[in-house]
Amino acid sequence: DTPESELIAQIKQLRADLGDQVLILGHHYQREEVFAFADITGDSLKLSQKAAETDAPNIIFCGVHFMAETADILTAPHQVVLLPDLAAGCSMADMADDEQVNRCWRELSEVINPDECVTPVTYINSTAALKSFCGEHGGIVCTSGNARKILEWSWAQREKILFFPDQHLGENTAVTMGIPDDQMIIWDPALPMGGNSRDAIEHARLILWKGFCSVHQLFKTEHADTMRRNHDGIEILAHPECSRAVCETADFVGSTEMIIKHVAEAPAGSKFAIATELNLVNRLRLQFPDKPIWFLSPMVCMCSTMFRTDPQHLYAALLSIRDGNITHQIIVPDNQKRLAKLALERMLSLA
Ligand code: 13P
Ligand code: SF4
Repeated sequence: DTPESELIAQIKQLRADLGDQVLILGHHYQREEVFAFADITGDSLKLSQKAAETDAPNIIFCGVHFMAETADILTAPHQVVLLPDLAAGCSMADMADDEQVNRCWRELSEVINPDECVTPVTYINSTAALKSFCGEHGGIVCTSGNARKILEWSWAQREKILFFPDQHLGENTAVTMGIPDDQMIIWDPALPMGGNSRDAIEHARLILWKGFCSVHQLFKTEHADTMRRNHDGIEILAHPECSRAVCETADFVGSTEMIIKHVAEAPAGSKFAIATELNLVNRLRLQFPDKPIWFLSPMVCMCSTMFRTDPQHLYAALLSIRDGNITHQIIVPDNQKRLAKLALERMLSLA
């Protein structure tokens, strides 16, 4: 046996020994060797729903930091959430912090009363502190699978929305809802105090934080043009974290789970070029050999932090549970938990 197959056998044994003491959640962007061990797989929305439902005492989250934080917020105090590699973060989530968002809110309050006329909406790809901010200010969390419903709810509460940290998910969703360009502005957190136009703030209905996913921004409309030239009848599928231009040229835009469903339900022989993370696209190829699938970009667009979780880290997390010596636990401070949970529960009750 190779050392790799020995490790896989050890994980299998340990996982079996722990039985229902542990639940393993796996995001679709996980590498195959880890994904195969997930009891439940899904996109951010599905996995947060499952985390809220489970009564397993230990939850190993094979995903990135904000996902494990979300699971910790939604589970009971006695349940333990582990992130196998603590360095598995999300560069987009890091593009908005507590201090920047509070500063933005203060700047808005020089022009309008944000607590009366702005609903703050955070993409689930954000820190617990920002979810707590939304809970405190009458706001809500959204995922790529429910963004439209959440924006509809948010505009029903107040006339404006502050959407962070992903500009593209906010913009792409608003475009499909028919919101005109002159009602959207980009908020650049890098500008000094007063650098974002006051006049624009007053007139905007949607204030979009200037953040992006470093993986999804690599897809370009030229890639779609090339695919269409080379493969007659090909359908372009894109994740809403892609740029507006890519989403506008795509035939279908949806979250990870929606993309999978779209491919699964298509008749045999359908051809797809997909603009989302590489590990998911490769898995779809294996799952549906009768439907030719291409990766939209000629470059490798892989989420390197999702890829950090490898079998060694999963093994170590399982071992720490068995030995009662838990490492890599994610604990959201109590002062953030209550309000972050409120913002998440507002979302889950709408989903
Ligand atoms: P979904 O899981 O909502 O499709 O989002 C993808 C993503 O970027 C996760 O970080
Ligand atoms: Fe974050 Fe992008 Fe990776 Fe998703 S794919 S975890 S948004 S960096």
